[in-house]
Amino acid sequence: MNKITGNAIKFIEWCGLFSVGNDSIDSQHKMLVDIANQFHDHMGKAKNRKLVSETLSQLIHYAESHFKKEEAWAEEIKYPQDLLNTHKEIHEKLLEEIFIIHDNISKEGGLKGIFQTEMFIARWLILHILTEDKKYQNHLMKE
Ligand SMILES: [Fe+2]
Repeated sequence: MNKITGNAIKFIEWCGLFSVGNDSIDSQHKMLVDIANQFHDHMGKAKNRKLVSETLSQLIHYAESHFKKEEAWAEEIKYPQDLLNTHKEIHEKLLEEIFIIHDNISKEGGLKGIFQTEMFIARWLILHILTEDKKYQNHLMKE
C-alpha cells in the first residue's frame, strides 16, 4: 500500500518499453517481473532469511535457463558475434553476482540481504533489460 494514496503499487509494472521484440523472451522477462513483485510484496511481512534465500534460489534457477534461451535466440537472429560475446559476459557477471549475494545471505541474512536482493533484481530488470536486451530490438529493426 502506498502511504499517501492508499493504493497498492506494484514494485515493477510490465510495459511495452521492456519488450525486446520476441514474445517468448518477453514472457520470460515477465516471469522475472513476477518474481520481483512477489518478493517485494512479501518482504515487509517476513523479514527473514528463508524468503530471501527462496527468492534467490528461484532467481538462480530462472536466470541460468533464461540466459541460455536468450543467447540461443540471439544466435538464431544472427545477432553480431562481438555484441553477443559481450552480452554473454554480462550474463556471467549477473550469475556470479547472484551467487555472491546468495552466499552472503546464508552467512548474514536479515535486512541487508533483502536490500541487496531487491537492488539486484532492480538492476537486472531496469538496467540489463532496458539497455543490453533492448539492443536485440535495434538489431531486429535493422534487418
Ligand atoms: Fe540479457
